[in-house]
Amino acid sequence: MTERETWASRVGFVLAAVGSAVGLGNIWQFPFKTGQFGGASFLVVYLAAAVGIGLPAMLAEFAVGRRAKRNTIDAFGALGGRQWKVVGALGLGIGFWILSYYSVVGGWVIRYLVASPTGTYFGDAAGYFSAVSAGTDALVAHAVFMALVVGVVALGVENGIERATKVMVPSVLLILAGLAAFAFTLDGAGAGYAYFLSPDLSALRTNLWDIVPFAVGQAFFSLSLGMGAMVTYASYVDGEDSLVADAGSIVVLNTFVGVLAGLAVFPLLFAQGIDPNTSGPGAVFVSTAGAFAALPAGRLLGTLFFAVVLIAALSSAISLLEVVVSYVVDNTGVGRLPAAGTIGGALFLLGVPSALSTAWLGWFDTLAYKLLLPLSVLAILLFVGWVLGREALSEVVHGSDLGRRFGAVWLWTVRVVVFAAVLGTLALGLQTLFVGGAIVPPV
Ligand code: PHE
Repeated sequence: MTERETWASRVGFVLAAVGSAVGLGNIWQFPFKTGQFGGASFLVVYLAAAVGIGLPAMLAEFAVGRRAKRNTIDAFGALGGRQWKVVGALGLGIGFWILSYYSVVGGWVIRYLVASPTGTYFGDAAGYFSAVSAGTDALVAHAVFMALVVGVVALGVENGIERATKVMVPSVLLILAGLAAFAFTLDGAGAGYAYFLSPDLSALRTNLWDIVPFAVGQAFFSLSLGMGAMVTYASYVDGEDSLVADAGSIVVLNTFVGVLAGLAVFPLLFAQGIDPNTSGPGAVFVSTAGAFAALPAGRLLGTLFFAVVLIAALSSAISLLEVVVSYVVDNTGVGRLPAAGTIGGALFLLGVPSALSTAWLGWFDTLAYKLLLPLSVLAILLFVGWVLGREALSEVVHGSDLGRRFGAVWLWTVRVVVFAAVLGTLALGLQTLFVGGAIVPPV
């Protein structure tokens, strides 16, 4: 086995993890789910879920990764005994599942980016979406996106991932902030802020149980939890720095980008008189594209916006592929490039149904949110809280004042509070899956 790679610096690790977290989950899904669930009400539950459930769960994944310094499957095996490898395998499988359709959406972004300078979608935003979102076009774009991801991962941890995300993350922040500032100057932006930022408590009370599984699932997806990504990234950490501080910065930055995306998207939509509650995976594409078409300098704005989305999507997809590649590279003599290429090919195939119909894409996504992600996070919490226990605690305490002070609180939160919350989420999600019949594939 070749020597295991590590991050060149702590900042490199944090930025790579932020790059993993910030992605289509923040920019594509977050505004569209927020729109679907009544704006600020969703935001409130989401924020609570990100901090109350996401942060402790991320620390749990970090503890496993840094302790074991192995890919996600062998990490669980090394720390808990062979039978626990199944927890790592579950996460790896879910990452594979998610990346298959994530790449399809990444392909849409490429199409929008390429079409922006000429304003190709300006005439008919909705028509353009149906033309590129499913069918042969979508399949080709899906292949292009996958090839880009394979390219970066093949270059390796330090040369590829760390270097790429160091540029990607700051540019995402910059361009989104610019777009949000621009949106601020528009007439009618105020209605967008009101919608996004002032929660309607009575709506929140009536819909709370519908909102919870989506908000918690969104938090997991957005923070890259339950898929072995954070275990894998933490396994390349060589230093002795505070994992608590790192996890805290990642959660804060990720949430900040989601909110920034909302601050850009909602005023844009309201300024154009577009209803944010249009459902379906095309909502953000159709509505922002429609907005750019009507705006001065729309071509430039559109190009910038979709460039940002593409960058964010790539750095997330990279982390998903890295989980699988890391397992193969650790366990076989296969090099990074052939490993990444073969796995990328398999992912492409799994994504074919999603590229051919958005109904399939929605089905893959729903299953991931409501069933697979909570299940996997639950298994990780069980392992870290009850099997690893004190050993996980000592990893969290290591190098961290906050860890020393609040480590025990963290452990019991993981063992009981967060565990119960995720269990409840899973039950709610399952109930809607079975009641709505959504578990049946859309053939
Ligand atoms: N967090 C990423 C996003 O919000 C998606 C992702 C999930 C990436 C899991 C890696 C692992 O788009």
